[in-house]
Amino acid sequence: MRGRCWPTWGVGVWIEATIYSPFAEQNNREIPQLTKRHRIQFPPRDVRELRQDEVYFYLCDGDSKEKIRLHDYKRIYEVPELYEQVVYERLKCQSPSMVADVLLSSVSQSEQSFSELRVLDLGAGNGIVGEELKKHGVSRLIGVDIIPEAQVATERDRPGVYDAFYVMDFCDLKDDERAELNSWSPDCLISVAALGFSDIPATAFLEAFNMITEEGWVAFNIKETFFDRHIDWGFSQLIRELIFSDYLDLYQVRRYRHRLSIEGEPLYYLALGGKKKANVPASLVDSLDLSDR
Ligand SMILES: C[S@@+](CC[C@H](N)C(=O)[O-])C[C@H]1O[C@@H](n2cnc3c(N)ncnc32)[C@H](O)[C@@H]1O
Repeated sequence: MRGRCWPTWGVGVWIEATIYSPFAEQNNREIPQLTKRHRIQFPPRDVRELRQDEVYFYLCDGDSKEKIRLHDYKRIYEVPELYEQVVYERLKCQSPSMVADVLLSSVSQSEQSFSELRVLDLGAGNGIVGEELKKHGVSRLIGVDIIPEAQVATERDRPGVYDAFYVMDFCDLKDDERAELNSWSPDCLISVAALGFSDIPATAFLEAFNMITEEGWVAFNIKETFFDRHIDWGFSQLIRELIFSDYLDLYQVRRYRHRLSIEGEPLYYLALGGKKKANVPASLVDSLDLSDR
């Protein structure tokens, strides 16, 4: 099913956007080809009561069993292809290709050519999003992640995908780090599976949003519950502000199955693509409740 109008948060505003049925595009996404096989075990008990960033699995090796949280990226990236096997193969994550696709089709609605984009990938992890973008060709690709293990894994598993990969914390960027990133003149921000849930908070996302040039492109995904109109803080509030206060022209919204939970339930996310219109001023940031509750 495709629609054209999107009723938003019950405030009587309709955003022109393309909406895809959650079932329309599933299972067609490419899973990275794996060359290694790890012995993975999911917990025997039902872990439905755990928060998304608390769930865990076991990595088995002979008689030993290591318990690893799904959000323990440091440990997961250390083991080659573990992230791919758990998140992409077993849990059927399709977000990198989906968000890249939303970006591609947003840009295709304009005169601009996708291959000229200078992209900043925020929360780049081990480089799967970069690999996805490279399939379409982009002029510059810069990755940023808070942990050195992400940089090491990207260089190990996807060497040469990024023009530069930085280890930086967007919650606490230093002036020289900001200057270094600005020297690439990024005109596109992409962030996949990295916003909320104790990962990148709204303030850090805004820092990146303000870093790209005006009229730059933005694509990201977010759990659909963050769009609940009863939630008036964090990303829910920020996204509303970006769209309704004219900082972002929304080109496309897609609802899709991000991945399966460990219990096999579909987790639905929204992928958004749009064009930046202006920087968000500090005064607005101060007036919002961007806390990550
Ligand atoms: C679920 S992973 C997603 C990785 C990649 N985007 C993908 O889709 O495969 C989230 C990433 O965000 C990174 N991250 C969390 N907080 C961050 C911050 N404040 N600044 C930069 N990166 C951050 C984590 O280290 C992790 O690699």
